[in-house]
Parts: sequence; C-alpha cells; structure tokens
Amino acid sequence: MDTKETIDKLTQMHKSAEVGGGQEKIDKIHASGRKTARERITQLLDENTFVEIDKFVKHTNQDFEMEKIPGDGIVTGYGKIEGRLVYVFAQDFTVFGGSLSRTNANKVTKIMDLAVKMGAPIIGLNDSGGARIQEGVESLAGYGDIFLRNVRASGVVPQISAILGPCAGGAVYSPAITDFIFMTRKTSYMFVTGPDVIKTVTHEDVTKEELGGAMTHNSKSGVAHFTADDDEQAMMMIRELMSYLPSNNMEDPPVKPCTDSPHREEIKLRDLIPTDPNKPYDMKEIITAVVDDYNFFEVQPHYAENIITGFGRLNGKPVGFVANQPAMLAGVLDIDASLKGARFVRFCDAFNIPVITFCDVPGFLPGVDQELGGIIKHGAKLLYAYAEATVPKITVITRKSYGGAYVVMASKHLGADINYAYPMAEIAVMGPDGAVNILYRNKLNDEEKAKATQEYREKFCSPYKAAESGHIDEIIYPRQTRLKLIQALEMTENKRENTPAKKHGNIPL
Ligand code: HXC
Repeated sequence: MDTKETIDKLTQMHKSAEVGGGQEKIDKIHASGRKTARERITQLLDENTFVEIDKFVKHTNQDFEMEKIPGDGIVTGYGKIEGRLVYVFAQDFTVFGGSLSRTNANKVTKIMDLAVKMGAPIIGLNDSGGARIQEGVESLAGYGDIFLRNVRASGVVPQISAILGPCAGGAVYSPAITDFIFMTRKTSYMFVTGPDVIKTVTHEDVTKEELGGAMTHNSKSGVAHFTADDDEQAMMMIRELMSYLPSNNMEDPPVKPCTDSPHREEIKLRDLIPTDPNKPYDMKEIITAVVDDYNFFEVQPHYAENIITGFGRLNGKPVGFVANQPAMLAGVLDIDASLKGARFVRFCDAFNIPVITFCDVPGFLPGVDQELGGIIKHGAKLLYAYAEATVPKITVITRKSYGGAYVVMASKHLGADINYAYPMAEIAVMGPDGAVNILYRNKLNDEEKAKATQEYREKFCSPYKAAESGHIDEIIYPRQTRLKLIQALEMTENKRENTPAKKHGNIPL
C-alpha cells in the first residue's frame, strides 16, 4: 500500500466506526425521538474537545456468527465541560441494542481507570439492552468489572448517568451506583426485568412507562434525580450540574465570579412566613431569594417533595441546600424524605460542598405504614449523614423545629458550625397542643386547656430558650439571610475536622 492508500484506509475505518450499526438503524433511533451516541457526546462537551479512544475495538465472540462492527456498540473517550476534563462513554443502540460485550466492557473500564487516576468525573450515556445475550458469562463478567469500578470511584470522582433509551439488567445497576441519574421523558426506561417478564412471573399487567419511565423513577421510586424533555436538554442539564461539582474529592467545587451583592437584602422574607404556624409557605422562595442571581438547581424535584435538595451559589461558591418544605405534608420527615436528604448530604460531604439546611419541621411522620416500613432505620440515615459530614454545616430554623427532627436537621448537637434561627422559630419537644394533651391529660376544661397551650407557646415555642443556652448562635432578621449565610461560609472556609480512623462506618442501610 502506498501512503495515500494507507491514509484512505484510516479514513474508511473512521467512517465505518462512525456509522455504527448502519444508517437504517440510525434513522430508527432518530424516528424514536432519540439521538445517536456520537450526537449526544457532541451536545454534552465543549465544541471540538472530544477525543475518542478504542474506536476500532471489535468483539471477540466466536459464537452466533456475529458481525464485527468497529467500536462494538460503545463510544468512549474524554473531553471538556466548561474547560474542565471529563471522561465519557455512550452506548450505541444501533449495534446489538447497545448491549454490553466483553470488549465493550473493557472500553468502559479503561476510561473509568483513567478518570480515577486523573481525578476527573465519569459521565455515562446509557442506551442499552443490558448484558449481550450471545456472550453469556463474558458479558456478565464485564458488568461485574464495571460495578466494582463504580463502587471504587464512588466518593473519589463524581459519576453521572443519563438514561436515554430502554435500559435493562446490568444497564441499570451501574447507573444505580453512580451519584446522579438523568432520564428523558417518553424515550427512556429503566427496569431490572421488563413488562413481558413480569407478566410471565407475577401475572401483573404494566406498561413500560408505568414500570420504568422517567416520571416513575423521578417521582415514585426515587431511582432517578432529573427529568429532561429530550436528549439535548439532558446534556444541557448535565453541563449545569457539573458547574457545581469539583472534579474529584481532593478539590474544592468551582468558584464563579459573582456580581450579586452579598449584602442584598430580601424584604419579602420578613412577611413570607405566616403568623399562624399551621399555614404553609413555599420554602423554595427563601432558597431562591438567597442564592446568587436567584439561581437554584433542584435535585429530585418530583420525589419526596416534603424535603428540598439542590445546589446554588453563595458569593460565587457552590453550596448544597437541604430544606423541609412546609408546603408539602407540612414538611414532615418520612421514609422517602429521610432517604433523599441523607443521600444528598453524603454526596455534598464526599465532594467538599458545604451544606446549608433550612429547617421547618413538625417531626417524623407518625403512622403504622411508616413504622412498619422502617422509619426508625431510614430516619437514622439522615441523622447519620448529617453527623458524619465534616464539610461546613450551616443551619437556619425558619419556623418549627420539634423533637427528634430538631436534632436531625443539622442541629448544633450533630456538629453544625453555625445555627441561626428566625425570630418566629419554635424549638420544642413537640407542638403546644400535643404537649398540653400529654402534660394535663383529661385534667383541664377547654378554657384551661387554651390558657395552658398559650403559656406553653410563650415559654417554649420561641428561639430564645435555645439562644440562651447557645444551641442557636444568632437570631437573625429574615431579610438578611443571604448575608448571614455568606458570613458563615467565609468563617468556615478552612474548616478542618478530624474523625477517628476507621475502615468505614456502618450507616443503617
Ligand atoms: C443482544 C440485544 C440485546 C441484548 C437488544 N438486543 N438487547 N442483543 N443482547 N441484551 C438487540 C435486538 O436483538 C435487536 O437486534 C436490537 O438490539 C434492538 O432491539 P429491539 O428489541 O428491536 O429494540 P426495542 O424494541 O426498542 O427493545 C429494547 C429492549 C429489548 C427493551 C432493550 O431489546 C429487550 O428487552 N432486550 C433484552 C433485555 C434484557 O433482558 N437484557 C439482559 C439483561 S440481564 P436487531 O439485530 O434486530 O436490530 C443483564 C445481567 C447483568 O443485563 C447482570 C447485572 C446484575
């Protein structure tokens, strides 16, 4: 071969890898409202930054006379998001349904190893029927190798998954170990076994959408964290999420120049909280009012809406917010809310993101379902996560803070660094009605009961008792919340906290 022929051969090889399973299958993907693996990568990364590796890898399976397509159904490599290095793999559904072969898994584990070595995030764009059936145990082994690396990379580099097509089997377990899962509406599904298998085994009729669609996992199961309308929006959302995250656990999250004054006061916060403690208000209004440029990036907005989690910036620095939501179930802590909050706090702690907690909580949800469902161990997870976290922890009690929930929601006793309260805060073992009922059971007439309730409210349902004993550091004007949080963040910037050496704790799973 002369030089021209060798160069032409390379060009031909590139073309053949880039067309994957062929134009017909690409057209089918487009017709279903999805993008191809390469199109997704282009949308995800900064322009012209993608570097592909292992483009010509082929499977080695000897059975079933399977076609050997360069790349073997997965595109892997690295590139940049806002100038920062990330590693990416994208499954190509046009090649054997994006299913995972031995060589396909080798490509993924290669970039996972590189990502951990270089300290950069791993982003997986999943669109796969799971283990490649024709390869049997080789494919299962490939999944095992990926799972092991997912676990080892957990807490070392951020791992982000997008589910962008029908994903089954191993294709859902690897994302489940990662930090955040994005799903697209109407085009993505996640299940361990699909509707047909369920019909055979349990005789239940269920649609793909009900079983594993985006809203199922974003609002009911809590498996997923974000919903996008389509692939393009999902890629934009991943870019936005990345802007709050450090590249690895040894770095601080990226600071952005801030033009929003730290001294900005929000008068509306003075009147936002109703004087009647039983009336709801929207806690998101407080969070949005205090963050830079009113920009709050919510995590799991559709799941356990009685607790809010998400990212924002304060004077340019990323922070994580955890907040009770009085507008949903009075902000009570139940099983789902505890799980959602605990996982988020642990993520922030692993990646050096300070945690800001807004507390307005009547307590843990009473009920047979909750007790039998294990609220004790699930509520303990939130408690554990807060106590374990050594990042700066700053708390604002806006209204109710009762009982165990007072302790759990980043109280001073669990190691919070600064605890603020609004003047209308109520910190007590329980609300006045419950307390009077227990203290004077059947001993008071209605008039006496009302008087005792009022006395209890005045004595215990204020922040001043807690401030007297130093459990609250400062009672703040609501309009100054932004400034107070920024001051506390600056004060805690170089926080060092040493905990006893151990292999790992034993969070009540
Ligand atoms: C090999 C596969 C495949 C697989 C799909 N294909 N899944 N090939 N191994 N696992 C192929 C199909 O044969 C087809 O090839 C092409 O991909 C597209 O698939 P369709 O079925 O036509 O697409 P669609 O109707 O969109 O359905 C997608 C699907 C379905 C829901 C993913 O294909 C499906 O149910 N696949 C099997 C899922 C599964 O049970 N996987 C094993 C999981 S076990 P042609 O040539 O016709 O285009 C597992 C264990 C891991 O993963 C261990 C974890 C603990």
